Amino acid sequence: SQFKIAIIAGSLRKDSYNVRLGQAISSMLPEGFEAKLIEIGDLPLYNQDEDYTPAASVARLREEIKGVDAVIFATPEYNRSIPGVLKNALDHASRPWGESVWQGKPAGVIGVAGGAIGTAMAQQHLRNILAALNMPTMGHPEAFLQYSDDLFDDQGGIGAKSRDFVQGWVDSFAKWVKTHVK
Ligand code: FNR
Repeated sequence: SQFKIAIIAGSLRKDSYNVRLGQAISSMLPEGFEAKLIEIGDLPLYNQDEDYTPAASVARLREEIKGVDAVIFATPEYNRSIPGVLKNALDHASRPWGESVWQGKPAGVIGVAGGAIGTAMAQQHLRNILAALNMPTMGHPEAFLQYSDDLFDDQGGIGAKSRDFVQGWVDSFAKWVKTHVK
C-alpha cells in the first residue's frame, strides 16, 4: 500500500468499544491505505531513566510508529481526559529528546464513550498533546460517538445508523493524510 496507518486505541479493556472502533475503521480506509492496530498494553510505565535503554515493547512501539505515515487515535474518555495508558504510549514514543517518532506525522482523533458528549473533552486534551508532538491533526470533521447496542453490526463493522458518518470521517482523514505525506 502507498499509505500505512497506525491505529491506537486508548483502552486495554478486552471488549473495548474503542478497540472495536479502531478495528472497524481499519477496514474502512480507501484503496492504497493499509492499517495496523498498535498494542500499548505491554508497555511499562514511562520512566525517563530508560529513554536510551527501552524495554523491548517500547522499542517495538517506536519502530512501528516510525514505519507508518500517519496515526489514528481512538480514545475513550476517562474523567474528562484521555486514559493514562494512552498518555504513557505517547510519552514513550516521544523520546529520547529529538528522536520523537511522532514528529510530523498526520493524526486523526476519534472516540466512543458511554456518555452523551462522547469523548469530546478527552479528544480536546489529546489535540493539545498532539500539537506538542508536532502532529498535524485533522480539525474537521469531528466524530464523537456515544455507545449504543447498534453502534456495531454483527460483523464488527459500524452499524447502519452511524456507518455513513464514520465512513465520511475516514474518507476525510485519508484526504488529510494525502495532503501531508509526499
Ligand atoms: C469512564 N467513562 C467515562 N465516560 C465519559 O463519557 N466521560 C468520562 O469522563 C468518563 N470517565 C471514566 C473514567 C473511568 C476511570 C472509566 C473506567 C470510565 C466511561 C467510559 O466511557 C466507558 O467505560 C467506555 O466503555 C470506555 O471505553 P472502552 O474501554 O470501551 O474503549
